[in-house]
Amino acid sequence: MKRKHLLGLKDITAEEIEEILDTAAEMKKLLNQNVKKTPHLQGKNITTLFYENSTRTRVSFETAAKIMGANTFNISASSSSVQKGETLIDTGKTLEALLTDVVIIRHNKSGAAQHLSKNVRNMSVVNGGDGMNEHPTQALLDMLTMKEKFGSFKGLKVVIAGDVKHSRVARSNIWGLNKMGAEVTLAAPATLMPMEVESMGVKATNDLDSVLEGANVVMGLRVQLERQQAGLFPSIAEYHKYYGLTPARINRADPDAIVMHPGPINRGLELSSETADGESSYILEQVTNGVAVRMAVLFLLSRR
Ligand code: CP
Repeated sequence: MKRKHLLGLKDITAEEIEEILDTAAEMKKLLNQNVKKTPHLQGKNITTLFYENSTRTRVSFETAAKIMGANTFNISASSSSVQKGETLIDTGKTLEALLTDVVIIRHNKSGAAQHLSKNVRNMSVVNGGDGMNEHPTQALLDMLTMKEKFGSFKGLKVVIAGDVKHSRVARSNIWGLNKMGAEVTLAAPATLMPMEVESMGVKATNDLDSVLEGANVVMGLRVQLERQQAGLFPSIAEYHKYYGLTPARINRADPDAIVMHPGPINRGLELSSETADGESSYILEQVTNGVAVRMAVLFLLSRR
């Protein structure tokens, strides 16, 4: 991989995705050892710059960088000079002047990572989630989880259910899985289905139950209450009735199907506790794979 930034999966090739996943699989071997340390990023400075809350993405990038010997720094917009009015570009240029090699940015505005990447000279920019646009490393860790379980993406039936409209995770998975040959179906209420769905190369339905048969992966999405106006569905009970991932619903999928969710989960809304904690749940495997994928991304971008 020769690119300087990782901004999304819409604009990268299947070969690049394959290289990231193969590298992540190698990195994962290290995570299973007693001593989790490699010098791949020794002497590099890695900074997370988060304008939105995060547990998994921020901590797994920091863990990945630390395992590989980098110096790590975490900036939360709420406790930084952003609060004094500093712009994103001025903050980015300041981080570059502070010798940051790679910055991971999370921002509530779609396009923020790309905007930053166009305004820095040497620093690599990784999109840690921008508005409703993309969350590429989440989709890559989802894809690593699927590849470990099923070996290949060709013909893999993936159902993505819930609040697709507001989900950057769904968009990155759609772009990535399509490129790798999976069959993606979106299931969402009409009010939570994106307008552009027809141009995304996926099937779409409002009837989740009608598309579960034969599904290999059933991915629930967090209902993003912070990004939607009131009234996009009648009530939590009604949403759970039609789109909640319950054991009865998962039993309709392939007997070997796995349940995935990017987290954080809303128990009783997107999925029941029985499903979240059940044998087919791969939610915590996803979290661990996030470290391996982020090690791979940091390594591949830093080696240019
Ligand atoms: N999946 C995800 O992005 O989780 P966090 O918001 O905790 O980083």
